[in-house]
Amino acid sequence: MFNDYSPEACGMTAPPGGTRISLLRVRDLSVEFATRDGVVRAVTEVSFDLSPGQVLALLGESGSGKSVTLRSILGLNPPVRTRVSGEILLKGEDINRLAERARQDLRGGVVSMVFQEPMTALDPVYTIGGQIEETLIEHRGLERAAVHRRARELLDLVQMPSPERCLASYPHEISGGMRQRAMIAIALACEPELLLADEPTTALDVTVQAQILWLLRDLQRRLGLAVIFVTHDLGVAAEIADDAAVMYGGRIVEQAPIRELFRAPAHPYTEGLMHATVRRRQKGKALVPIPGAPPNLAALPPGCAFAPRCPHVKPVCIEALPPLHVVASDHVSRCHLVPERLASPLLVLNKGGSL
Ligand SMILES: Nc1ncnc2c1ncn2[C@@H]1O[C@H](COP(=O)(O)OP(=O)(O)OP(=O)(O)O)[C@@H](O)[C@H]1O
Ligand SMILES: [Mg+2]
Repeated sequence: MFNDYSPEACGMTAPPGGTRISLLRVRDLSVEFATRDGVVRAVTEVSFDLSPGQVLALLGESGSGKSVTLRSILGLNPPVRTRVSGEILLKGEDINRLAERARQDLRGGVVSMVFQEPMTALDPVYTIGGQIEETLIEHRGLERAAVHRRARELLDLVQMPSPERCLASYPHEISGGMRQRAMIAIALACEPELLLADEPTTALDVTVQAQILWLLRDLQRRLGLAVIFVTHDLGVAAEIADDAAVMYGGRIVEQAPIRELFRAPAHPYTEGLMHATVRRRQKGKALVPIPGAPPNLAALPPGCAFAPRCPHVKPVCIEALPPLHVVASDHVSRCHLVPERLASPLLVLNKGGSL
């Protein structure tokens, strides 16, 4: 039995994405926080690869470990009462073994992050122009004379309305959509190869959400960026991603190219997410929420963490952690039912359908 996702353990020639050149390689990442309620296992044995220009959507309900995974890639977990294990290789450098100064260089250079709520990420006492220019001076070593021009170019790149006015504005003086554009401009200032976007549209109203999503997609294609896009909205994932990893209880429970995931989900949790999401051809059909609540990460069960909520649960699901089964090339699922379903395709209960 295997419980990791190395190619050998999965009986594969390479893990999903492993045949492509790897920009980011995460292996067996686990993150634990010591709290008053016990040890919170926020992320457990997470592994994936990302190649240049690839867009991976990280999906899952609140508390499934998506943000902790992203923060680990930046080496941004709290320094005390935190245990991080596993490997995070960014362009071959293991983030966990780098000195803080070298990590900071990577953060401003190869990789940068766009946060969910720009108001908390932007500094309220500096103008937008000041913050972009500061980033350019610190990480690109540009001269004062060049930074204003570059800051203006970056605001043009993110299609900021009234860019000159915005450069002179403080974060509270511009709209939520403009703040998010400013965050993206700062993130792009150092020409990163990898952009981590943690639910960058959820704090915005629906029309602005769509605009920011289009902007990110356009920038990703024009600049050839690799992106990890955290969302719990499957529709958003379908718009932007090449591949998806579904997290539950701190583990990746399913990973596949996004079309394959929607066409034939192989984990009951992924199916549940799809039935709970508004889709094309949804008219007249009720949304079905997943019953129950996410697991307590300080008291995870020995078996499958989704078992208490799973409509197809069997005794083995409660007793043993499911291995990561290979469903198809580049498609893996951590569910005991996979072999049965593969053996008799009629048992595949619900096709996901297109979003
Ligand atoms: N510093 C910390 N100390 C203790 N527990 C933490 C810490 N950071 C995160 N956690 C816990 O780790 C778990 C995963 O958190 P995470 O923020 O990654 O969830 P998420 O999937 O991003 O959820 P959401 O969709 O709500 O943003 C949660 O139970 C959270 O409470
Ligand atoms: Mg989060």
